Amino acid sequence: MRPNHKKGVVSLIIIIMFLLVLVELVDSLNRTNFPDNFLFGTASSSYQYEGAVNEGGRGPSIWDTFTQTHPEKIADRSNGVLAVDSYHRYKEDVGIMKDIGFDAYRFSISWSRVLPGGKLKTGVNREGITYYNNLINELLANGLKPFVTLFHWDLPQALEDEYGGFLSPNIVKDFTDYAEVCYREFGDRVKHWITLNEPLTYTTNGYGNGVFAPGRCSLYNNCDEGNSTTEPYLVTHHQILAHAAAARLYMDNYKPAVHVPPSPPPS
Ligand SMILES: *[C@@H]1O[C@H](CO)[C@@H](O)[C@H](O)[C@H]1NC(C)=O
Ligand SMILES: *[C@@H]1O[C@H](CO)[C@@H](O)[C@H](O)[C@H]1NC(C)=O
Repeated sequence: MRPNHKKGVVSLIIIIMFLLVLVELVDSLNRTNFPDNFLFGTASSSYQYEGAVNEGGRGPSIWDTFTQTHPEKIADRSNGVLAVDSYHRYKEDVGIMKDIGFDAYRFSISWSRVLPGGKLKTGVNREGITYYNNLINELLANGLKPFVTLFHWDLPQALEDEYGGFLSPNIVKDFTDYAEVCYREFGDRVKHWITLNEPLTYTTNGYGNGVFAPGRCSLYNNCDEGNSTTEPYLVTHHQILAHAAAARLYMDNYKPAVHVPPSPPPS
């Protein structure tokens, strides 16, 4: 045997032994290794999942605009017009989650499906409310806990057009109004809420380097408008204010009362 060959055989044996140990470990790793209240689940975001962007009364979001006006910024030039069509196929999707054995599903609500113009005063879209009611009821009927994200980057285009979306402090009131519609309509069944998904990603990619909607920047040569040195800070600031206002509203008016048992008398 040549020395190199010998080395190769030894490495191979070590790799095989490692794999056998790994298989053994994976084989014995199961739910009993986790606490009883540990939840296994999966997650999605509305623009990537729902499709049906022009159906059911939904208004356009900045991701519709971004994928239409800058298809070259998407690796395969695709968009969310159809996505995985979960708007129509949610029952099948929930069935798959149940088959896998999941306990929870985190999804996001499309703001412009609930408020097509972004604001309360431009009207609530009852068809949108019905869709999320159906999805939530289907999850619960199959033993899956819903976790709801209010904002996963698909801002109503109307608010971007009117005041620059999260660049403006006006967003705080509109986001809070939208959150309240969701708490009121779904809060009897949804007990876990996420206000903003990955605020840092929205800021840096939307306003720093321009690779996500609304595609604003100045430090790179790929944006029509923007200011990479100032806008990310403004947007972050308004996201924090919007989160705080929506979270406060929930705590004050919607969070189910927590029963605090009386403390035992001092001994
Ligand atoms: C689950 O893992 C535990 C601890 O490793 C093991 O004792 C048990 O046999 C496993 N159960 C199943 C169904 O694989
Ligand atoms: C960005 O805004 C700052 C502060 O207003 C300004 O000094 C700078 O020139 C702006 N940059 C661009 C590219 O507009």
